[in-house]
Amino acid sequence: MSAIYQEGKEPHPKERRIVFKNVDREGWDTSLAMYETEGGYDQLKKAVGMEPGAITDEVKKAGLRGRGGAGFPAGVKWGFLPPNNDKPVYLICNADESEPGTFKDRYIIHQDPHQLIEGMAIACFAVGANLAYIYIREEFPEGAQTLEKAIEEAHEKGYLGKNVLGSGFDLEIYVHRGAGAYICGEETGLIESLEGKRPYPRIKPPYFPAAMGLYLCPTIVNNVETLCHVKHILEVGGEEWSRIGTPNNTGTRILCVSGDVKKPGYYEVEVGSVTMGELINDLCGGLKEGRSLKAVIPGGSSAKVLRADEVFTVGRGDDTRELTIWDIPMDFDTLAACGSMAGSGGVIVIDDSRSISWVLNNINNFYAHESCGQCTPCREGSLWMKKITDRVVAGNASPSDIDTLDNVARNIDGSTICAFGVACSWPTESFIDKFRDELVSDTNLELEGELLNAEAVTAAANLR
Ligand SMILES: Cc1cc2nc3c(=O)[nH]c(=O)nc-3n(C[C@H](O)[C@H](O)[C@H](O)COP(=O)(O)O)c2cc1C
Ligand code: SF4
Repeated sequence: MSAIYQEGKEPHPKERRIVFKNVDREGWDTSLAMYETEGGYDQLKKAVGMEPGAITDEVKKAGLRGRGGAGFPAGVKWGFLPPNNDKPVYLICNADESEPGTFKDRYIIHQDPHQLIEGMAIACFAVGANLAYIYIREEFPEGAQTLEKAIEEAHEKGYLGKNVLGSGFDLEIYVHRGAGAYICGEETGLIESLEGKRPYPRIKPPYFPAAMGLYLCPTIVNNVETLCHVKHILEVGGEEWSRIGTPNNTGTRILCVSGDVKKPGYYEVEVGSVTMGELINDLCGGLKEGRSLKAVIPGGSSAKVLRADEVFTVGRGDDTRELTIWDIPMDFDTLAACGSMAGSGGVIVIDDSRSISWVLNNINNFYAHESCGQCTPCREGSLWMKKITDRVVAGNASPSDIDTLDNVARNIDGSTICAFGVACSWPTESFIDKFRDELVSDTNLELEGELLNAEAVTAAANLR
């Protein structure tokens, strides 16, 4: 499976390829023999000779933050497993890659599956899991096959199965194919699906996977990219690895850039080492000819939009500084301080040729389709948001519909079982905060009061 843009191309000089080292690499293939030519499974050999807790300590020292969306520290998550537990522990690799704008995990799976399997095996040894699953979305059939083959090869060589490398540690990894639903990327929805049920997310608390996960047993769920980093952390040690990137934003991460740039694609960079401006202008070759930047959604479609002409105040006390969109370092903390998030690394660039109403409607269509329907504010609200922006795009909305839209979004936000509620309301909230005038200008004043009784909708949204 090839890359969308960078096939056969050298990585950009500002990239630092660690996890993506073998992606698009000439002469590289997915076989175990190839993987072993460059020290493949050496870190697993090292791991099985260590105390499991020492591996978790290295991951903690590294400061590795999850690459799936929330940026939660992986070592800390592993540390949440209950001590003296007598139930089985499971590890799940989240390969659902469902957040729009994100396209990185699939390339690791397609082009370097053993890297993921080695990372998972080390993680399993660290957390005491003898059974692990890779939950992969239905739309990646080649990925599932590639992984099955790699697992078979690793089994034959004794990297998986009974008594891994003579260590007394047993490990089986299974590939589980989902049916292609965004909500199966949410870890508790994923777990329900893996148990063979409809993927209704579970309420946290009490269903934090580390305490009550798969089959109500302690379970660690991590993203593909997160798990790949584990092997590299073990190779150099957590402290050394933490020097990559910037403080509290360590390591490399893969940014997936789509939208209105000359060279969309994936770029692995040290976290925080490039600014938004460098990413767009250097790595992605700049905006399209004659165009100017209108906005960026920096962390997958659920991240809040940043307007091109905003000035962001970040830092505290003496360290307070003002940034334009071009100056923002692409790290977890700065993007959060700018009011958005690094999320899944999906950077969506929007130029001045785009209608904001159209972009928001596109996003709302997705969320209305993907709500699992379990909670009323999300099930009804996501559809109302879509219907209202459908009308805005068609020129059939009245100006007060934008207030209604805002009200619906804010009544979903924080009122639902899972974070999908936030994910679907943040785009609408932020687009209205930043682009209200443009949205209103796409409505029709003559329709005011005719189409929708805003108060009735608001009252209904409050019923939950
Ligand atoms: C609606 C929704 C969809 C998600 N989709 C994904 C996904 O496709 N892949 C992923 O790794 N995490 C996804 N997540 C985050 C997971 O719930 C979970 O936090 C993550 O897999 C943990 O891995 P990490 O700590 O390594 O990032 C999603 C979360 C939500 C709320
Ligand atoms: S917030 Fe939406 S996706 Fe999540 S459980 Fe509720 S209805 Fe389902």
